[in-house]
Amino acid sequence: MDFRKSIAELLSTRTGLAADVLAASVEVPPDPALGDYAFPCFPLAKTLRKAPPAIAAELAAGFSDGAAPFLARVQAVGGYLNFFLDRAVFAGAVVRDVLAAGERLGATDEGAGRTAIVEYSSPNIAKPFHVGHAFTTILGNSLARLYAHLGHPVVRMNHLGDYGTQFGKLIVAFEKWGDEAALEKDAIRELLRIYVKFHDEAKDDPSLEDAARARFVRLEERRPEELALWQRFRDLSLAEFARVYDRMGIAFDDYSGESFYSDKIPAVVEMLQAKGLLEESEGAQIVRLDDEKLPPCIVLKSDGATIYASRDIAAVLWRKERYGFWKNIYVVGNPQSLHFQQVFAVLRKAGYACADDCVHVGFGLVKFADRKLSTRAGDVIFLDELLDESVAKTREIIDRNAELRGTDMSEAERADVAEKVGIGAVQYAFLRNGRDRDLVFSWEEMLDFDGETGPYAMYTYARARSVLRKAEAEGAAPADASDADLARLGGDEEAAVARLLYGFGDAVRRAADANEPYLLTRQVAGIARAFNKFYNNQSILSAPDPETRRARIALTGAVCVALKTGLGLLGIAAVERM
Ligand code: ARG
Repeated sequence: MDFRKSIAELLSTRTGLAADVLAASVEVPPDPALGDYAFPCFPLAKTLRKAPPAIAAELAAGFSDGAAPFLARVQAVGGYLNFFLDRAVFAGAVVRDVLAAGERLGATDEGAGRTAIVEYSSPNIAKPFHVGHAFTTILGNSLARLYAHLGHPVVRMNHLGDYGTQFGKLIVAFEKWGDEAALEKDAIRELLRIYVKFHDEAKDDPSLEDAARARFVRLEERRPEELALWQRFRDLSLAEFARVYDRMGIAFDDYSGESFYSDKIPAVVEMLQAKGLLEESEGAQIVRLDDEKLPPCIVLKSDGATIYASRDIAAVLWRKERYGFWKNIYVVGNPQSLHFQQVFAVLRKAGYACADDCVHVGFGLVKFADRKLSTRAGDVIFLDELLDESVAKTREIIDRNAELRGTDMSEAERADVAEKVGIGAVQYAFLRNGRDRDLVFSWEEMLDFDGETGPYAMYTYARARSVLRKAEAEGAAPADASDADLARLGGDEEAAVARLLYGFGDAVRRAADANEPYLLTRQVAGIARAFNKFYNNQSILSAPDPETRRARIALTGAVCVALKTGLGLLGIAAVERM
């Protein structure tokens, strides 16, 4: 039930004004003592030729008892009309709606026909998948899920860093120092090793750099020898990335990486030339962006090789043609903000309106509270290892808790739960705050089962599920609103849970609008906290009477729906027990 809309309809019949116009001005007062909703009468003063307080008083008088069953009372305060909902009716309606929606809670079809491309993860082939990539992977995964929930066709795109001069270096290095067996066994580690070695050796022997450039030019010419090695590096790296994606429940629809655009660049160069935008500067081809107050964008290097930016320009045009996107979203760290501004500016200058539908969704840095993080080779952190560590630490906590509570979890179940909770803890940590903030990673904080963490939300879900399982075992109907007297949900704790459940859909929409999943994370955390308060202060299964018991079981069921759906939209798989 949409209470704002219902209030607007009541106001509409009393003022003769359009309900949707009125709905837009119905507010939620900052202080709940002023009501659940408020309607400011000031804008009506002109049309009705009356002072706002008089309008408010008159309207309030018309809302005598029983004007609408969901309203407890309506009060005029100054120029405002304040609406107080009937708590039990409100809670009952919310629980009924949530149970009916199920996993479609908060879902709409408003995005139908408007394709959202979400580009995320985009790791570099032959390089470890480091924690910065974890940020884009986890953030992008959640955004893709949010857009899909709002009805958008979503294309999950992985713009692999599978091209560029570094492949010339890898080819040279592999022929000189490569170890076949090591490559087959642990490709990324081996590729990283020879890449580091290349840089060490190149300090004393600059001819290596020239050789690498030459090999990359040959790769661009698609010579079989270079192409075959490149293909192997790519396939082996991708297989390793796929393992991490699998673990996190992440998938992509399109893996067109940088190499894919290499043969589309001549057309881009031609187009820019035809529009008179290309200029030669020290042998390179550039587009000046002075009027946008940006440094020039290099399109072709002096040796004629393509470059990161030109591949991105080609990519926008290809994506527009292939998918006809509504929004083309790049989930990439803030340090690349200038790059995207330049790419979009070049396209705007070239007259492509779709440049305005391209959005860079940036994010901050990842820092470790416990140890130093450096991307310099040698002590990079592999995401895989980070997940392993989280799972191992989670397993210790689960074992300890199981001992304390005497839970009968099998070895296999414990392993499964630790895997999901450990990974969920990492995912949650990345989605807990606004994305622009630097993330300070701390195991202690992230795995605190009582803090604002993934394990806490997951634990709350498992706890609520256990109530439902017990209820079913005792012969109660599964959480079902239809036969419960939901008007019994009038207590403070129930009202608090209901209010947060009611805000779920709005949180989903705000999270997508701002490309900020944390707005949903907060809602999920709030629901978990409010449910625990309810759980600790009220008895559910041994409620004072059977009707209240049924109503509270229904509320518990609604909480399960919201937590599971919310965690799912964050990319986290809920567990039934932990
Ligand atoms: N591969 C790049 C990196 O790891 C990110 C790619 C971002 N996407 C793009 N379309 N440029 O830094």
